[in-house]
Amino acid sequence: MRRVLVTGGAGFIGANFVEHLMAHTDLEVTVLDALTYAGHREAVEGFDAARVEFVHGDITDAEVVDRVVAAADAVVHFAAESHNDNSLHDPRPFLDTNVVGTYTLIEAARRHEVRFHHISTDEVYGDLELDDPERFTERTPYNPSSPYSSTKAASDLLVRAWVRSFGLQATLSNCSNNYGPWQHIEKFIPRQITNLLDGRRPRLYGQGQNVRDWIHVDDHCSAVLAVVERGRIGETYLIGADGERSNRQVVEQLLVAVGRPADDFDLVADRAGHDLRYAIDATKVRTELGWTPRYDFDAGLAATVEWYRAHEDWWRPVKEATEARYAASGQ
Ligand code: NAD
Ligand code: DAU
Repeated sequence: MRRVLVTGGAGFIGANFVEHLMAHTDLEVTVLDALTYAGHREAVEGFDAARVEFVHGDITDAEVVDRVVAAADAVVHFAAESHNDNSLHDPRPFLDTNVVGTYTLIEAARRHEVRFHHISTDEVYGDLELDDPERFTERTPYNPSSPYSSTKAASDLLVRAWVRSFGLQATLSNCSNNYGPWQHIEKFIPRQITNLLDGRRPRLYGQGQNVRDWIHVDDHCSAVLAVVERGRIGETYLIGADGERSNRQVVEQLLVAVGRPADDFDLVADRAGHDLRYAIDATKVRTELGWTPRYDFDAGLAATVEWYRAHEDWWRPVKEATEARYAASGQ
């Protein structure tokens, strides 16, 4: 394997994955990214130009997809519409990118017999009760709740069908909530960090009781690389770092970190269909591939606050518009 095609490589996790490949492998990378509102050219600038090529294009465009897949030894497919709240306002781009885009890519990978890794989410499994002793495993039935998670579930099923029916050389991974550098400020943790840096109060949906299973983005990237290098074809690997926290706990921790009272937040309108809790049992990726996460949540969160403090020039231009969209929904 010499050249990897990273779709969505200008987005949050894709950009961190490109950085991870630069630091930990000798691989060459082609990034294919449409630079939607969530894509940032600057996130993949500054790397060795001999190793990273950027192609501005859409994964639903069969012609460009065919060309870049044919030139790659493996595809790692991150590109997606990724935000649940947006999917509740306008589901259509989620169908186009997440379903038709994935279909376009796997057809090209099949034609050119290129190894394919599909990036997905724990949200395909629906949600858990707060006191459920079980966590999600690779055998949990699919039960997605939102337009976003249902289109991701559809894309997973397409990949699995292409493995069985056409012998596509593919693996899949489903990860829990990521945090870290380059995450769009529409998402929970960077929204609250940038609110705090702005002197605004954090905003918790509902009562703030919903639980997410946080993993640092670089730990997600190291797990994906392990699956790409050593995963068994046709298999799904769940990725998580035992990071369960309620949203309220996270906000209280951020408030204390910046020297504000732990109850200095607002409760705002809840998300429609809001999943209560996600929790990953990552035994398979840990035991079969020997992967372990490196980040402790407290240290990772503190480093993420510092990253947003140091990168205000990156997020500042979209802060007002992002907050205005939330305000229109009472959030
Ligand atoms: P993101 O929204 O930050 O980035 C998505 C990237 O894809 C952007 O660069 C965007 O420009 C690009 N893109 C969107 N539509 C495209 C299209 N039609 N053609 C080409 N490029 C397109 O997303 P993210 O949070 O980095 O998520 C990446 C992947 O990881 C997604 O597949 C998502 O479902 C999955 N995932 C995310 C998380 C999380 O916590 N963020 C957790 C588990 C899985
Ligand atoms: O579980 C993996 C998923 O995690 C990924 O597949 C998605 O791409 C990613 O966006 C994320 O989905 P969530 O919906 O869990 O993430 P989000 O950051 O939107 O919200 C996290 C939690 O915080 C959720 O319970 C909603 C809540 N929330 C969110 C925002 C933006 C708030 O309480 N206040 C907020 O302002």
